[in-house]
Amino acid sequence: ENPGKPPSQSSITIPVVVHVLWNTPAQNISDAQVQSQIDVLNEDFGATNRDYNNYDAGYGSVKGDLNIQFCLTQVIHKQTSHKSFGGNNNMKFTKKGGSDAVGPMHLLNIWVCDIGDKLLGFAYYPGASPDIFGVVCHTNAFGSGAGYSLFTDYDLGRTTTHEVGHSLGLAHIWGDANCGNDLVDDTPLHNGPNFGCPEQGLRSTCVGTPVMMTMNYMDYTDDRCMYFFTDGQGSRAAFFIDSDPQLNSIVNSACTSQSRNPITTISASDLLPGRKDKRTISLYPSITTGRLTLEIENPQTGKAEINIYNQAGAFMMKQQIFISGKIVSQLDVSKLNNGIYYFELNQGGVKQTQKFIVHH
Ligand code: ARG
Ligand code: ZN
Ligand code: CA
Repeated sequence: ENPGKPPSQSSITIPVVVHVLWNTPAQNISDAQVQSQIDVLNEDFGATNRDYNNYDAGYGSVKGDLNIQFCLTQVIHKQTSHKSFGGNNNMKFTKKGGSDAVGPMHLLNIWVCDIGDKLLGFAYYPGASPDIFGVVCHTNAFGSGAGYSLFTDYDLGRTTTHEVGHSLGLAHIWGDANCGNDLVDDTPLHNGPNFGCPEQGLRSTCVGTPVMMTMNYMDYTDDRCMYFFTDGQGSRAAFFIDSDPQLNSIVNSACTSQSRNPITTISASDLLPGRKDKRTISLYPSITTGRLTLEIENPQTGKAEINIYNQAGAFMMKQQIFISGKIVSQLDVSKLNNGIYYFELNQGGVKQTQKFIVHH
């Protein structure tokens, strides 16, 4: 398509947890609406959005694919007495009527709540304190789809795209000053934010009077009028992903569900001749400070062994267990350092494995 560009790199994946804080039942948006936002992020950060090839103000050679994808690990729905949180961080703390960040060194936390009439969303740059890092988006600007209750002009999920941009180190395209610097070379100078859906070919009055890139996600235009990032913004995001400890840890974390998901299913007949039922084991939570619960459907009574390995495959610890019922074991992994581990259940040579994360 564009021979001047290097081949696009393989994408990195950001595991996400979404906190839905609701006061009125209508604010308790569905998991489908949450997923619609994740879909928008995957399109916008993968340059697969339908509007990617709309009018580009002559910037076709610099617009680009950031090669970043997102996976939804958990949706937390929580009722709150707050009618609106406004622009403070109370939504990030259970004690303040919000919901504590989950595994902030492993997941990008997104809080969806009412933040008043003046704000669509806000986010921190890399380097913020881990418990407040992440994205906040107004309930009525989160997701995309005709069936959802969304603000006119902010109904395509671009608020969260913009805020995730900030979380990856991207500044507003006007550099928050008249002809300010957004620290990205391939975006033009703007006088300030553009709103609505600007006409084609508008120029700023900054040095060189460049045509403005009003369709950049880091401007303030309406959702249907912003539809790309630039390669320069991609490089800047990649720099922060490589160098910021929290972002780096997040992108190297697993996309496993936080909740009790069935993980591996094997046929019990593999264990015991004549049995046709499946054996499914669940290990939860997948991000823990110290305790893991193992649950087995259709358990086969008998001895088994649990082995834990680190990400490099080195043996870390062992526990002998006796399986007699469904809830098999409370496993203490509190002595393990923060990191990603493999859990292996071995019963009579039949092994089932699952990843989990320790985060103290
Ligand atoms: N941070 C901006 C705000 O203050 C969000 C802008 C989002 N723009 C959009 N078209 N969705 O609300
Ligand atoms: Zn912004
Ligand atoms: Ca620039």
